[in-house]
Amino acid sequence: MTLLSLRWLRLALPCVLVAGFASAEPQTLIFSHVVSENTPKGKMALMFKSMIERRMGDQFQIEIYPNTELMDDDEAVVAIAEGRIHFAAPSLSKFEAYTGQLMVYDLPFLFANMEAVERFQNSPTGLNLLTHMQSDGILGLGYLHNGLKQLTANRDFTRPDDLAGLRFRTMTSEVLQKQFELLDAEAVPMAFGRVYQALADNEIQGQENTWSNIYSQAFYEHQPFMMQSNHGVLDYMVITNTDFWNSLTAEQRQEFRFAMEMSVKYGNAVALAKNQNDRAAIASMSGVTLHEPTLQQLVQWQNAMKPLWQEYEPQIGADVIEAALDANQTPD
Ligand code: SIN
Repeated sequence: MTLLSLRWLRLALPCVLVAGFASAEPQTLIFSHVVSENTPKGKMALMFKSMIERRMGDQFQIEIYPNTELMDDDEAVVAIAEGRIHFAAPSLSKFEAYTGQLMVYDLPFLFANMEAVERFQNSPTGLNLLTHMQSDGILGLGYLHNGLKQLTANRDFTRPDDLAGLRFRTMTSEVLQKQFELLDAEAVPMAFGRVYQALADNEIQGQENTWSNIYSQAFYEHQPFMMQSNHGVLDYMVITNTDFWNSLTAEQRQEFRFAMEMSVKYGNAVALAKNQNDRAAIASMSGVTLHEPTLQQLVQWQNAMKPLWQEYEPQIGADVIEAALDANQTPD
């Protein structure tokens, strides 16, 4: 039996999730994600592990599986819901099967900047979304930032119709797929771990992602043209299984919440710094043309993509979209 199938066997055993199991051995908790350890999420997960093991190491050990080693994020959401793993931090675009309201994060050009995203997440509406999938077995413990998404392609583009006919990778999100269909491009939903090779093989010709993901995955090697579009947001929800969470004592939950809060703060600081540094590193590459759109060009992109706000209002809720727009107002 291989090491991987042994891990799967262990994941398949429902009893591993029950925290109240009387045992002298610390319980092993699984944290699965798809990015490298040198990313905001990778670093956040490492800090979470180190805090939990330092404060409760006699009770819990955390095994982190980065880089899609265990499963992709679509599978991780199902594995959390079914109680086969304990922690994951999928993109907010990955919850469509469970709630329409989180689609708000995929609406193009909705949030003016990351400060607005942060204000929305801390608003009553944003906080309420964390507990919205509890009955499906998914509990949100907090939000983690990556940053704003940029468009990249293998041919030059400045206007929305320049992308017509190209195949663009998206996450498995209906809104994100429609976004590219509005540009007459073809949307190809694909797991993150497959994107680099698909670009290399010309199976897809474009993609959207944050500076830190474009840099850490070396997408620039096959995407010489980029636009600082800031057209969407890539943020995560750190999730756990509801039954696992309810099986913990109040004291243990408090420790997990504290470790999560600290590591999310750290991850957010990393996200900010990495996106700035990785953008600068990409901009200085001789093989990359980075286009900064004029205000007039941005308006063209917004006009092309914004019809999605109205189209998805019934699923998201006018009140949720309103709360997100309110977050764009800087408090006095
Ligand atoms: C991630 O940052 O977790 C992956 C995002 C993606 O699938 O593009």
